[in-house]
This record gives sequence, C-alpha cells and structure tokens, in this order.
Amino acid sequence: MNASKESRADGYESFYREFDSPLMRQIRREAYGEDIGQHSWVGADEMRGDIDRLKLTPSSRFVDLGCGPCGPLTFVLAAVGCSGTGVELSPSAIRVGRARAASLRIDALLAVHEADLNEPLPFEAGSFDAAMSLDVVLHLRDRSNLFHEVARLLRPGGRFLLTDAGVVTGSVSNEEVRRRSVHGHTQFVAAGWNEHLLESAGFRLVETENRLMSVLKNASGRLAAVQAHRAELERVSSTADVASQQDYLETVVELSRRGAVSRLMYLAEVPARV
Ligand SMILES: C[S@@+](CC[C@H](N)C(=O)[O-])C[C@H]1O[C@@H](n2cnc3c(N)ncnc32)[C@H](O)[C@@H]1O
Repeated sequence: MNASKESRADGYESFYREFDSPLMRQIRREAYGEDIGQHSWVGADEMRGDIDRLKLTPSSRFVDLGCGPCGPLTFVLAAVGCSGTGVELSPSAIRVGRARAASLRIDALLAVHEADLNEPLPFEAGSFDAAMSLDVVLHLRDRSNLFHEVARLLRPGGRFLLTDAGVVTGSVSNEEVRRRSVHGHTQFVAAGWNEHLLESAGFRLVETENRLMSVLKNASGRLAAVQAHRAELERVSSTADVASQQDYLETVVELSRRGAVSRLMYLAEVPARV
C-alpha cells in the first residue's frame, strides 16, 4: 500500500461514510453550536471573518485544499455566490460534499476533484483568485510542495488562508503525540516553520493569529457530544472506535488547555507584479 492509500485507509474515510446521518448532524450541532458541515476546528463565526480576509467577491475563483465533505467550502459559496473547487483524497467526503451542495441548491457553483495534495495539482497556473486549507497541512508529507503549488495556482495578488492545528508551542510527550495522531500521517511543526516555508514559496505574509481557543472550545464541545451519544454511536460503529475518538478528543483538549500544541491561522498573498 502506498503512503497516500495508507493514510486514506487509516484516516477519515470510514468516518465520512456516516457524516450526514441525523446522529452526526445532531452531534455537530451540539459540538459547534452551528453545524456548517465542518470536520475540523473551524466555527461558523470564524469562517465568516475569513471570507473577508480572502477578499472574495461573486466573481472570485476559489479553491479549498483538503475540503473534506465540503462544509466550509459550501458555506463560503452560499455566502459569497462565487464558484469554488474542492480538492480531497476521500471519495466518501466528495460524495457527501456534492449532496450537501445539491441540498443547498448551489451545485452549479461547486466542482470537486479527488486528488492527493502530496502530488502536483491538476490546474493551470493562475487558475484561482483565492485559496484556503483548513486543518489539512499537518497530514502532508512535505507541505512546502503544497505551498509552492498554491503560489503557482493563484494569480498575482491572490490570497491563501490556511490553518494548522499542529504547531508545537510547549512540551508534548511521545504518548500524547501517538494519541493525537489517529487520523493517519500527522506532522507537528515548530512555531515559525510555516511562516518560513510560505515566504520561501514566494508568499508575502499578511497576518497570523493563534486560534488555540477555537480548538479548546470545539474539541470540548465534540467530546461532550460524543459522551452524551456514546450508546447510539456504538450501535453504528464499534465500541473500540468510539473509545478511540474519545481518547483523541481528550488528548486534543489537554494539549490545548496547556497551550502545548496551538492552531495557527496564516494569511498570505502572492505579491502583485510591478
Ligand atoms: C481535519 S479534516 C478538514 C476537512 C475540511 N477542511 C474542514 O474544515 O471541514 C482534514 C482533511 O484533509 C484530507 N486530507 C488528508 N491528507 C490529504 C491528502 N494527502 N490529499 C488530499 N486531502 C487530504 C482528509 O481526507 C480530511 O478530509
């Protein structure tokens, strides 16, 4: 099995099969307050603020890298009215994402590609005005390749907003690293490393923000919801899967509470040509 297939099998694929069941929707409502179909640490209000950061307009060509089941992506398309492209490894996520766009009556705005972000991306240079990638880069083997690819895909002046929930800002034990890494290949990086790689790829850094509190809030919300629905979850998956999910969320909460692993937002821009 190659590295990507392996991470697909171990990672999100089985979870996404049940993603839009009534039980999963209920859990997301309880966890996040507002269910936008996210499977990350992003909340609806954070996403609204990021739409402004990306300077999106109805004529923008927008790409979401590692879009999962297209929750944040369809949220943006519905709010802005622009067209959007999702790139994702999981076929189940793509199926759920297309159904979500159809139910929101924005399927004409959405295109989704099954592709591996570890590989060159199947788009022409300058194809997009803005790009985002939410809580994905920690799963890549060499994020620097992706940053170079995004710099190629964006037009001059185009903006890239990404979040990384794996920035080490304190002490972390080997046991915590293991328990935090249940979704396939996972890389933690030192504070400052993403900034360095973005600038090396040709971006100008516009803004960074530590979003540790969003992880603490949303991971605590997800943990409480999983505990409240444990018996129902065990009927649709297995006792071991639910226990593993709970252990993962407890680890995320603990690492966030200590400030040991942070979630950083980076807003970067391809310099306009002079
Ligand atoms: C934490 S989820 C975030 C999903 C989405 N961005 C959101 O906010 O709801 C991480 C996503 O990255 C995808 N992913 C991981 N490795 C990938 C790769 N090599 N190529 C494409 N997608 C990948 C996973 O399948 C998963 O859907």
